[in-house]
Amino acid sequence: MKTSRSISIMVISIWGLFCSCTTVYQRQEAAQINKNDIYKMLYYASLAGSSHNSQPWKVEVTRDSLIRLYADTTRALTVVDPDRRELYISLGAFIENLNLTAGSLGYNSTVKLIDDKKNITLVAEIHLNRALSTHYNLELIKKRRTLRTPFDTTLISKKDINQLLAADSQQIHFYPARSKEGSLIAQKTVEAYTQQAYNLAAQNELAGWLRFSNKDVSEKKDGLTTAGMQIDGLSGFFVRHFLKPADSKKASFIDGGIDKTKKQALNCGGWVVITCSENTVADQIKLGRLYEHIHLNCTQLQIGFQPMNQIIEEQNFKNEVTKSLGIQEELLFIARVGYVANIPAPVSPRRPVEAFTIFEK
Ligand SMILES: Cc1cc2nc3c(=O)[nH]c(=O)nc-3n(C[C@H](O)[C@H](O)[C@H](O)COP(=O)(O)O)c2cc1C
Repeated sequence: MKTSRSISIMVISIWGLFCSCTTVYQRQEAAQINKNDIYKMLYYASLAGSSHNSQPWKVEVTRDSLIRLYADTTRALTVVDPDRRELYISLGAFIENLNLTAGSLGYNSTVKLIDDKKNITLVAEIHLNRALSTHYNLELIKKRRTLRTPFDTTLISKKDINQLLAADSQQIHFYPARSKEGSLIAQKTVEAYTQQAYNLAAQNELAGWLRFSNKDVSEKKDGLTTAGMQIDGLSGFFVRHFLKPADSKKASFIDGGIDKTKKQALNCGGWVVITCSENTVADQIKLGRLYEHIHLNCTQLQIGFQPMNQIIEEQNFKNEVTKSLGIQEELLFIARVGYVANIPAPVSPRRPVEAFTIFEK
């Protein structure tokens, strides 16, 4: 009796010692994490691309420097993205930038994806540990941007294609613009864009994310601006000063968009298509990381990059193109790519870190 009691006391004391050691260790680890570095990680993460530049992220940083990433569902595109595929891809892109920045600043980040049906907005918990710097060039993250000008139609070199596919040769596919598949994607992109452009619900949703006036851009710091859409020169001046977002529903604006889309689709070196065997939230987040990774690689290789996702957003086109390309997996992301003489500096606004982050006191 006496022996078993002393064994229990011993076990409890060892457990207590273990727990307090773990807490002390966690605190020591947390103390090694510089708060300014976390701020930098969130800043670079927020430079990730997102559909309609909706920036659907919310973050909480605990006292122990745990980063909790939430989906800001008030920023979801319920018409063109009812299943939130694009929302989670955008969050994946955010995680990729955060991870690359952490590595560059000398941290190892462990990303735990949360698959909790009851708490659908908590997407990931990111834990940081001190590590050697990866020396990742953060300038690339600053330089990455969506380009909507026509690209060079020269073939992308084999070496560059291999670099783009290297991240996951299973999921990432490349179709040269002049191939049968490339021409089909170009043609169907224009048709799907046209179908969507004449859908009133999609028009209303898009209008809600258009930021024409300088006042709107500086107040909201999100959405699609004239600079971001590359409506330049006199046209840009006219749109900024004389049009309201609701004017985007007029036939002249819609037809202008269709013409621009034709020029874009016909002027590129090829198409990057990303597929997935399943379509879970975790898959979509992984895909978002791949998208950002490929786009950063393109930036380094002087290759312009523009996601063009209307084929996927318009279900009838998604089914048709999946069948025509003979893809066995689910089609989840499409972008046009092509060499460009230069990549101009990014212009799409971002909300500051404080606008989407709560730092626990
Ligand atoms: C999932 C996803 C889908 C997108 N779809 C399109 C698209 O169909 N057409 C387009 O021009 N840009 C598309 N974009 C690009 C965003 O509009 C762009 O990332 C955002 O406006 C921010 O601009 P930036 O990439 O230059 O930082 C998409 C981006 C993401 C992440």
